[in-house]
Amino acid sequence: MVGVANRMRGLQQSVLGAMTVRCRQVGAVNLAQGLSQVPPPASVLAGGARDFADVGHSYTQPEGLPVFREAVADKLKRSSGLSVDPATQVLATVGATGALMATLTALLDEGDGVVLFEPFYSYYLSSLQVVGLRPQPVRLTGPDFAITAEPLRAAVTDRTRAMIICTPNNPTGRRLTAAELEVVAAVAQEHDLLVITDEVYDEIYFDASPHLAAATVANLAERTVTLGSLGKSFSVPGWRLGYACGPEHLVGAIRVAADSLVVCAPAPLQEFGARALNLGEDYYRELRAMYDRKRRFLAEGFTAAGLSPNEPDGAYYLFVDCSRMGVATGAEAAEVLLEHNLVGTVPGEAFHLDAPDRPYVRACFSLPDDVLAEAVDRLAIGGLVRG
Ligand SMILES: Cc1ncc(COP(=O)(O)O)c(C=O)c1O
Repeated sequence: MVGVANRMRGLQQSVLGAMTVRCRQVGAVNLAQGLSQVPPPASVLAGGARDFADVGHSYTQPEGLPVFREAVADKLKRSSGLSVDPATQVLATVGATGALMATLTALLDEGDGVVLFEPFYSYYLSSLQVVGLRPQPVRLTGPDFAITAEPLRAAVTDRTRAMIICTPNNPTGRRLTAAELEVVAAVAQEHDLLVITDEVYDEIYFDASPHLAAATVANLAERTVTLGSLGKSFSVPGWRLGYACGPEHLVGAIRVAADSLVVCAPAPLQEFGARALNLGEDYYRELRAMYDRKRRFLAEGFTAAGLSPNEPDGAYYLFVDCSRMGVATGAEAAEVLLEHNLVGTVPGEAFHLDAPDRPYVRACFSLPDDVLAEAVDRLAIGGLVRG
């Protein structure tokens, strides 16, 4: 019988997708998957956008349309002061996931070690496995989940070639500080490491300070590939449109890998994407205010149920410490929330390689207000907290 490749052993559909299926089966409110059921900006879909018949439908050049790359460069400059040349340092990709796969493929060799900070976005692990790279986890602990020098230095070995960071973070919602990024920069410099920074939530944050792009800190620009996505800022994850930016010689190699993997990012959507990226500051202000309101509403629901949600300063997830439920693991907590409250969440284990020290679940608040209200009502069903 024809079998599957060795490197695919143990890889399964993500826990997130499996929880969505279970939510459907039992009729639960699904806070598990970051499906972003918030509508995209109307002005990008209609009202001035060119008609779909008028946009290009053929392949683009592998790096993407100039109009898209220029819009990415302008947006990065505007939102975080990050300077990239749209002609040579920006690549349109099939989502941030496509950007990550092309980056790993282009810049690392099979067997290389890649540092991941736990808790991490679970696709990092499967992406590393698909291209034959080795995860090297560094445990960050709550409630602040801060990166510090000592554990990071302890994790780096002579096989380590790269680190993946994520700010604002999925699942914790934390934004890395300048001090933490300086630690990353120092260790990367000491060991000549590639830094891959996933900044797909760069426009979603809740305090006054703008997004701090890793590549603007210390000397990180020379060794950093920044990944972005239109899926989060414009609620269009199904467009599968993202980008990778970085030093010209790295982006050039990523472009060759992306060409081999997928030829180019969807052409018509690059045109619509450029329009979205050019939306003004009012759009982002409203986006942040909306998510801030949703974040507070859901956090109050978990707190009223006796649990301990963190206070994320970006992205659209709560990372909830369920210790007071008297359970040992996030998987148990998620099971009780599903069966007892009909609320679907993701167990904290999905974001760790080794078991986390507390029973966490992640809850997404990128959902319509009535869905969040239903979830909060269901969380109010008593009996979650023991002792
Ligand atoms: C941290 C992070 N990176 C990347 C992605 C995937 O982005 P895309 O849909 O653009 O591939 C997600 C989606 O949830 C995410 O949370």
